[in-house]
Amino acid sequence: MWWPSPREDGLHSLIDRDERPNAWLKAVYSPGVALITQMEDGPAKGALTSSISSSGVIIELLRHLAPEPGERVLEFGTGTGYTTALLATRTGPGSVVSIEIDTVTADRARQNLDGLGLDVHVITGDGELGHPAGGPYDRIVATASVREIPQPWLDQLRPGGVLLAPLDSPFGCDLLVRLTGAGGGSARGEFVAKVDFMRFRGQREPRPYAELGWPENASVEPWQELRVEVGPHRQQIIDSALLRPAARSRAESSAP
Ligand SMILES: C[S@@+](CC[C@H](N)C(=O)[O-])C[C@H]1O[C@@H](n2cnc3c(N)ncnc32)[C@H](O)[C@@H]1O
Repeated sequence: MWWPSPREDGLHSLIDRDERPNAWLKAVYSPGVALITQMEDGPAKGALTSSISSSGVIIELLRHLAPEPGERVLEFGTGTGYTTALLATRTGPGSVVSIEIDTVTADRARQNLDGLGLDVHVITGDGELGHPAGGPYDRIVATASVREIPQPWLDQLRPGGVLLAPLDSPFGCDLLVRLTGAGGGSARGEFVAKVDFMRFRGQREPRPYAELGWPENASVEPWQELRVEVGPHRQQIIDSALLRPAARSRAESSAP
């Protein structure tokens, strides 16, 4: 693996477990670091395409997801299989489906999980489509970020189930959104943390925030005040200040 911040020469330092076992262990057990496990364009330079998520962030994410033993979980972005292993240990055999788009990464994750004796279904494919055959799911979680929540995720979430995903935001970071399934392929919720994840492959291209349902000047409001509603053909981020009684009565009084 490689250290995430580049050196002065722009390259990332390789941390080889065989050559530097102590540095490797120290890096793996640093809670605030996401270590690079794959680069698109060469061994030490280029786009970072897979990493093992930072354990501190994953613990925070799992705290908000709060899966219970026996619940059906769908995960996107298997990566090394680290988060998948934690999920499977919590929910039990046969309850986690995890989708990874990169063939080499998915194969390695399968080996890692098999090596731990965990019964997990790892699928090589595009997570944006979900996996309808295994649903509906009690918990859905992504460890790569999206600009727009894909509709198949909402269709495969059971009413009352929880969906957690990093959503690109105008705040200069991703915001972790926690949504509760409301039936009919819709869900609503709020943001619970500032995070930074790799983007889903199919959503790397930037898009105007207004097109993605963000209110104008969203980034000047505290992000904790925003509410999120998603459903067929819409993603809407709403400033909750506008929902407060004073704001509502202003809107009502200006109604014709
Ligand atoms: C930050 S890594 C996930 C790390 C993982 N949580 C771990 O702890 O090892 C993000 C992963 O998402 C994968 N990914 C990107 N786009 C995807 C897509 N459309 N469907 C499924 N996986 C995708 C990448 O290949 C990468 O392995």
